[in-house]
Amino acid sequence: MTYENLTTSKENGLGWIVINRPDKLNALNIKTVEEMQGAFLAFKEDMEVKAVILTGSGEKAFIAGADISELAKLDHDAGRQYVLKGQELTKLMENYPKPVIAAVNGYALGGGTEMALACHIRIGAENAKMGQPEVKLGLIPGFGGTQRLSRLVGKGIAMEMILTGKVIDAAEALQIGLLNKVVPPEKLHLTCEALANEMIVNAPVALEYAIVAINKGFDKPMDEALLLEADLFGASCKTEDSKEGTKAFLEKRKPNFQGK
Ligand code: COA
Repeated sequence: MTYENLTTSKENGLGWIVINRPDKLNALNIKTVEEMQGAFLAFKEDMEVKAVILTGSGEKAFIAGADISELAKLDHDAGRQYVLKGQELTKLMENYPKPVIAAVNGYALGGGTEMALACHIRIGAENAKMGQPEVKLGLIPGFGGTQRLSRLVGKGIAMEMILTGKVIDAAEALQIGLLNKVVPPEKLHLTCEALANEMIVNAPVALEYAIVAINKGFDKPMDEALLLEADLFGASCKTEDSKEGTKAFLEKRKPNFQGK
């Protein structure tokens, strides 16, 4: 599949989605949002792809936000529709059945931070810069930033970041938990690959159920969330991979998971 504003590739079980509008610092116009949706859906069905890494082309930007030239034209209804489309993509990413890692290679502002927030894990290059500067444009975050940022880093810090619109560096993003890890730019891809590889040796259905349990349980009261965990644990006990994983341990060999 070829796209206008991104490239995709797959190698050794990993699918790469690279936003490719370097002259606009990989800003997301609506076409790019649609293409990202198409690329994520294609990798979801592709059994060869066990995890996805999202990054931006060039060394300067992951995604420098939604395309401000498009934002400038929105009225009430169009604005609402616009963010609903972006939110559909972020929900697809957040609830993706395979691990999704953001390789944050430079500016991740506005929609860029929001796309990173929708990934399961965020690894930053030392030159990563993150923030939600929408209020500086007279707007608010619309691809999930007001919700996912506070859930990840806490309400007080999210309030501070969103109300000031300030841009923070990689070290601060790491300190508040917005980034999981920070590495030199030249090690970003290798670090993301190594992390993805550590995950994809595990049972695919277990990865999927764990993502569901963490995501869906997060906003529930503890008793309900634990019941959800119990249901999903029960479901994982029924899989062929759980039989294989436990048997392999007892037989002192590596498991051979089939994703069933
Ligand atoms: N939407 C549309 N175009 C964008 C963009 C965005 N979010 N971010 C960058 N660009 C474009 C610039 O307009 C410029 O295009 P041009 O060469 O045709 O004029 C090009 O990308 C390079 O950006 P430039 O501003 O010249 O680079 P810089 O290194 O001086 O500054 C930033 C980098 C990221 C600090 C600056 O581009 C910026 O503030 N971008 C907007 C960030 C933002 O507010 N995002 C949230 C939107 S909701």
